[in-house]
Order: sequence, then C-alpha cells, then structure tokens
Amino acid sequence: MKTAVLLLTAALAAPSATAQALDPVIEKKVDALLQQMTLEEKVGQLNQYSSAFDPTGPAPTEGGAADVYKQIKAGQVGSLLNVLGADATRKAQQLAVENSRLKIPLFFGYDVIHGYRTIFPVPLGESASWNMEAIERSARIAATEAAAAGQHWTFAPMVDVSRDPRWGRIMEGAGEDTYLGARIAAARVKGFQGKDLAAVDSLAACAKHFAAYGFGEAGRDYNTADISEQTLRNVVLPPFKAALDAGAATFMNSFNEIGGIPATGSVHLQRDILKGEWGFSGMVVSDWGSIGEMIDHGYAANLKDAAHIALNAGSDMDMESRAYLPHLPGLVKSGAVDVKLVDDAARRVLRLKFRLGLFDDPYRHSDVAREKATLGKAEFVTAAREIARDSMVLLKNDGLLPLAKNVGTIAVIGPLANDKDSPLGNWRGTGVANSAVSLLEGIEAAVSPQTKVVHAVGAALATGQRGFPIEVVYNTSDRSGFPAAVEAAKSADVVVLALGEDAFQSGEGRSQADIRLKGLQNELLEAVLAVNTKVVVVLMNGRPLAIPEVDKSAPAILEAWFAGSQAGHAIADVLFGDANPSGKLPSGFPRAVGQLPYSYSHKNTGRPGPKTEVFWAHHTDLTNDPLYPFGFGLSYTTFAYGNVKASAPAFDKTGSVTISATLTNTGKRAGTEVVQLYVRDLVGSTTRPVKELKGFERVTLQAGASKDVTFTLKAADLAFYTAAGRWEAEPGAFKAMIGGNSRDVQEVAFSLR
Ligand code: GLC
Repeated sequence: MKTAVLLLTAALAAPSATAQALDPVIEKKVDALLQQMTLEEKVGQLNQYSSAFDPTGPAPTEGGAADVYKQIKAGQVGSLLNVLGADATRKAQQLAVENSRLKIPLFFGYDVIHGYRTIFPVPLGESASWNMEAIERSARIAATEAAAAGQHWTFAPMVDVSRDPRWGRIMEGAGEDTYLGARIAAARVKGFQGKDLAAVDSLAACAKHFAAYGFGEAGRDYNTADISEQTLRNVVLPPFKAALDAGAATFMNSFNEIGGIPATGSVHLQRDILKGEWGFSGMVVSDWGSIGEMIDHGYAANLKDAAHIALNAGSDMDMESRAYLPHLPGLVKSGAVDVKLVDDAARRVLRLKFRLGLFDDPYRHSDVAREKATLGKAEFVTAAREIARDSMVLLKNDGLLPLAKNVGTIAVIGPLANDKDSPLGNWRGTGVANSAVSLLEGIEAAVSPQTKVVHAVGAALATGQRGFPIEVVYNTSDRSGFPAAVEAAKSADVVVLALGEDAFQSGEGRSQADIRLKGLQNELLEAVLAVNTKVVVVLMNGRPLAIPEVDKSAPAILEAWFAGSQAGHAIADVLFGDANPSGKLPSGFPRAVGQLPYSYSHKNTGRPGPKTEVFWAHHTDLTNDPLYPFGFGLSYTTFAYGNVKASAPAFDKTGSVTISATLTNTGKRAGTEVVQLYVRDLVGSTTRPVKELKGFERVTLQAGASKDVTFTLKAADLAFYTAAGRWEAEPGAFKAMIGGNSRDVQEVAFSLR
C-alpha cells in the first residue's frame, strides 16, 4: 500500500514578506487608544518587570516593590512575568485596571517550557519522539493549565538549533537539525496558541532566542556567535520562520552577539529580516536584562544609549533592564528617537492585548475555581506518561530488553534510581519539587507481586544544596554506598542502573566543558558490572552525554531524558515491553567533547578522507563519527529498507520527484519506525552539507508487514540561501537518502533541471 507523504514545504518555506494578517477591527481600536495615550503611557506599555513583589500580600510602602505598585497604578507597566496563580494575577491586574488613567490591562508571562503543573519530558527529550501530534498535545495541555492559572503568554518554544551539547540550553530546544526543529517549532506554537488567542485556554507563544544563541563560542552561555549569513539563513532561521508561519504572536531576542552586534541591538535581525522580509506584526520582547547587557558587550555606553539602540533595532518590550521607562521619553523629546518607533512598539503590545481579549475581560485567566479544576487533571497525567514513552530512545540492546515482569529479583541502583525531582528537569514551571514518579516507583508498580525489588543508591550524584540558580556540587569521593549497591547487584537476576545528570546540571547557565558522566557514576557502573553482567543503564539527562564507557560495557542502554511527572511509569512501560521504544535522537551523542561542535549535516570540506596519510579533515586520536548519530534509535523489533528509488532521474522547477522505499518489519513484534529522508545538493553556489533532513514519517507495522513509504520533493524543498542572497533551488545533481537514522541510509540520485 502506498503512503504518500507531502513534504511540508511550509516548515522551511522561503523567508518572504508573509506579513501576518492584521484584524482591521483590532487595528482601529489600537489606533483609537494610541491617540489618547501620552508619551509616558506609551513607553509604560514597553516596560516589563518580574514579580519582585507579592501582589497577594499587603502593598509595600517604600522601595523596590512599592515603586512597582506605583508604576502599575500609573500605567507605566505593560506586563509582568513570574506572577503565579489566578489569585495573584487578579490582584496585580486590579492594580492596573482599577487605578491607571486608561485602564489598560497588564499581560502576564511565564516560562511554560515543558509543562505548567503537569510536567512533560524536557523539550529535547520530547523532540526525540518525532511525533508532531504528541508535541502539539503537550503544549496544548501546558497552555490549558497555565492559562487557567493566570498566564497569557509563555516564553516558549525555544527554537535555537544547537550542535554543541556543552551548551546547557540544548536541553530546551529540538536539537541539531533545522528541518526537525522547524516542524517542532510549528507544532509547539500551534499547541500553545490553540485555534484562537482569545480563547480562555490559549497562551501567546514566544519564539526564542532570536537568533543564533545556540552557536555560542565553546558552548558557553550568553556568548559570541560568529557565524556566516549562510549559516544564519540556512541553519538558524528556518525554525523561527516556521514559528512565525504557524502564527507565533511574539519573539524574544537573545543574549548573544552575532557578528559583533548583540542580537538585542541588531537592526539586521529584528527589522530587516523579522519585521521586514518576514513581515512579522507581533511583538519582540528582550531577554531578561539583555538591553542593559549591551553595556557589558561594549556596544552601548550607558543605559540611555542601550535604550536608544534597542528600540531603534526593533526590541519592543524591555524585560527587566529598566531602560525604556526612564530614558525613552527624554530620547523622544530631545529628537534622538522618532516617536514613530515608540508608537510602533506600543502598537504591537496593544495589538496583542486586544488579540488576547484582555480589554473584553482582563480577569478571564484569573479564575481561582477554574485553576483548581484544571491543574493536574487525570487526562493530563495520562498524556504525560504517553508522551514520555514516545520520547525514549533505545541506544543499545544485546537482547536483555524487554525485561520480564515476573523476574525473581530486580536491583534498581544509582543516584537517579529513586530521584523524584530530577525527572522534572530545570525549567519545571510550577511542577512540585519531588513530585515525579521515580524509576524505582515505576518498576515497583510494574512487576509481579512475586518479584523482589531491591534499591541501592550506590553513590549520590550531587552533594549539598542544589536548585535554581545554584551551581551543582558533585560527589567525587563518598563511596560509602558502593558495598550495598554491589551486594544488591550480586543477588539480583537483573540490574537497572539509573545514571545521568542532576536536573540543574543542564539548562540556562549550565554549560559544561566535560560532558562525561559526573562524579562516581562510571565507577559505580564498573563495580556493578563486575558482579552482574545483566545491567540495563537508564539515562536521565537534559543534554547529550559522552558515554563511551557505558556503550562499551553495558548490554542495554535506554535514553529516558528528564521524562517529567510520569517518568518512572513511562520508563517501566518501555523496560517491560508494554511500549516498544520508537524514539530517535534529535541530537547526536559525541564520543568525546573534543569532537564538538558536530553535526551529521556537516560540510564535506576539501579533504573529507579517510586517507592513508594524515592530511585530511580529522583528529588523529578519534574518529569523526559520533557515538550515536542524529536520528538514531533502536526498537524491540527490526526494520529493513528496500526498493529505494526515485520516480524519475530528473525534474524541473515546476515539477516534483518522489523518493520511495519499502519498509518491512522483520522482527517478531509490532513497532514504529521513523523513516527519514535526507538530501544532498552535490554542487552549489556555496558549499552544501553532506546531507540534510528533508522529511520523515512515523510508520507503525505489525511483525512481517511491509509498507511503501513515499516522499515528494519539489524545488522548494531543495531551496537554500544562495551566494546571490536569494532563497532558491539551484539546478544540478542531488542524492536522496532514506533510512532509520542519519548514518545507515540507502541512496538514489536525481537531478533538478
Ligand atoms: C531567561 C531566559 C529566557 C527566559 C527569560 C524569562 O534569562 O534566557 O529564555 O524566558 O529569562 O525568565
């Protein structure tokens, strides 16, 4: 049976002036309101504070929080972030709506990154599902909970492509690939925003961090990104364009500089590309303090200068630099800044408030009864388990998995075995600390009553206090738990060893120069293997790790990521075969940090090698290949690809070619395979990657069944930002490759005339 899958060219549509449609009724209301506003009131709309005050408490009388209260009442605050809950947001809203002259409502923003109260796998983990419906559903549930708890706006999805797992924030995105990142960006925007921004369960999405934040030097956060216009256009921007095309209401700029210009002050990024070429009519918020940080960058002389540069560059709202409120009115009055720029920024903020329905009912998201009835609903918890299951990636299996539920004794060992907190990850919203189902709890709930489950920590991963924004301190010396762990392993039929990261080891500000397992984990692995060879390693982590030791000695490895509220049950579902793993890596795992940055979609270079002598593009002490490549993931069944062909040897720009393969489930149980299509443009006006993902399809097959999977390629799918500075496909020879990961593919040639 043929399955035709049209490639979503929208996901990588050529950036063009696709101005987001405006609602004339709203535009008239915005015009009318702007005409009533003073310059100070317009600037007030561009001012955003974090909730450094507690609106549910008695109004402070002086200093910091008191000033904020006064400014809200005076109409000098447009938005607040981190005000949590229906009650707190209602009280903060009352300050604005019942006291300010024009009664313009606030809107409330929060980092709803992978769940609000019900927590889903960290975004990189969720991306491993390659399941767009599941990813959209997760964002939809997160929006439903957050909107019931007073939020109007989430600072998500983070759509930064990154090819450097040293960067702690690789955990927050969709990994190393542009095409997959674009598809996921669209799914998350649709999930958050739903069908109508004015719906009571919708959140305005925020595509971030614009742009190239994931290309920071040495993976260090907040850093210098020195990339070409080609890399910016071909690798970094398409997920942002996909988010815009999906209707993203806001963008957030980024802390990094790009080509010597901080993104917050980049006219090229924000005015030329985003608001110009792409016709973005939404609102750009700065990242936290990023306007003021242009002083540290050495790009602004002082806060007034920074305010001038940022507004000029198209940063509409000032998150916590406290630059716009004190300085923009004076800059306009002195003639340094054209009032039109302030009007445009205020228009974008007010447009969004009208679209959110806030002028109809400013309290619509602040309903305590609805909040109580919505958070943590059973159906959301069930969804969290299902999506976590789909996110898991089977990296190795010598046949040990799946486990039997009636095995005699299972030893569940390791620092993360009974950790109920780390599975929530770093950006955990209002997920309650220590509320996740631990791996131990999941296994205990899954096995037969006769099975004995023994638990031993072995060695703690972190010592002392940990949390936001505290540095994790790792245990590198306390082996006192080893004997009990070895004893538990010795007496068990099988060992499940939970290794990986502390929740606060990846995420913002958590870049690391060494991405091997921290502390005593590799030692613990060896000690356990020395007494029992039947060891399943379950990895719980936010970033790809360098785990050659685990790969060499463990018979089975399951990548579970920080899997969210239902982690333990979802992992147990996979360990015992109730779910057949189908996840595929959204970011390759390196063998060593020295290979980074690395992507499967690398250039060929002039000396691709391997050659007999040393003169080719490589390290002499390690292969170039990752330990596990992008798109890799095993199953409890096996799949074979055959009959790979192109429907024609060539096609022209008005036509298309179909690339197809026959997929067969050659194993003994049903399973889902993510069939991946890669393309190589052999010769271009600029050098082109050795392969680029251009399509995928999740195919479920019963044992022994086969299915023809067909992808249709058009010229638009081959387009890139050329040397001529145009987004177009160039005629010439191409290769198409199909397989179950980016390494093991079968290829076929075709040409574009
Ligand atoms: C942080 C992050 C950004 C987040 C914002 C608000 O520094 O860079 O992603 O949305 O501040 O918390």
